[in-house]
Amino acid sequence: MSIKRIGVLTSGGDGPGMNAAIRAVVRYAWHMKLEVMGIYRGYAGLINGEIALLDRRSVSNIINRGGTILKTARSEEFKTVKGQKRAVELLKTHGIDGLVVIGGDGTYHGGRVLSQKWNIPCIGLPGTIDNDINGTDSTIGYDTAINTAIDAIDKIRDTATSMERIFVVEVMGRASGSIALQVALGSGAEDVIIPERKYDIAGMCHDIVEGNLRGKVSWIIVVAEGKAKAGDIAKQITDLTSLETRVAVLGHVQRGGNPTVRDRNLGARLGQKAVELLLEGKSGKAVGVISDKINVVDFEEAIKKRKVNTNDLYNLVRILT
Ligand code: F6P
Repeated sequence: MSIKRIGVLTSGGDGPGMNAAIRAVVRYAWHMKLEVMGIYRGYAGLINGEIALLDRRSVSNIINRGGTILKTARSEEFKTVKGQKRAVELLKTHGIDGLVVIGGDGTYHGGRVLSQKWNIPCIGLPGTIDNDINGTDSTIGYDTAINTAIDAIDKIRDTATSMERIFVVEVMGRASGSIALQVALGSGAEDVIIPERKYDIAGMCHDIVEGNLRGKVSWIIVVAEGKAKAGDIAKQITDLTSLETRVAVLGHVQRGGNPTVRDRNLGARLGQKAVELLLEGKSGKAVGVISDKINVVDFEEAIKKRKVNTNDLYNLVRILT
């Protein structure tokens, strides 16, 4: 079947750079003489028929903006056969014969269902700050998020050193310690707690007390939200060391802001590739970049539990304290 009109949606948590990806999909598709329909609010919006034409001008001046102009949502209804049927009907009604879905693992699950079960040509782009998708070195939004987080931690360090305190800083990452590890290393944090590793609070407190006896007066401990809550860790540290602690939860600040060059250009490259793949008749694929080369894997592969070796980065954080 030749593709004449494609749809594009963003789903799940937004990430800076999604707009750059949308822009690339829209402009490259028009360049290839395809029409593009924007689907608003992810799969939820698809089921509700929130669909409108996106022309080249509709994506003007968005390359530099965080968030997603298509809005985003998580949809329980799309997990049901009834919801999926409705989505497929609406795609057909709007003459959409190929779909680009931008988001994290939930979005890819949806893309897999549409392509495998309902035969809708579908290509996925990794849009999430968590960097927890296989087949790509980085997801769209991740680079901006780590730069935002590190900027915040640098500021926290100023007050931590001035007031001689221990700060426990919680960063995002539901099931992945990618953000935490990178910002811990880059900010010179003393320790980091991530979902991929066990942590030893007694050992950490022992090191803190020893350091304190040597005259060390401030610490930054980075915690990935998926492993522990900063407030709990801080309380345990105070209980075990009698030293003063403070907590900073960076939260959704990490999801916003102007995308970095890396995230914009990643979005642009992946957006172009997604359209190319649809034109080649491909479906059920997720696009990424490995060692600066475009990489294409099946949705199944992209959403498999990630096997990451955290030893090197973790050990370096600890050695450099
Ligand atoms: O998946 C992206 C992410 O930002 C996670 O890091 C975080 O746990 C989650 O989304 C937060 O989701 P919500 O915005 O629904 O609170």
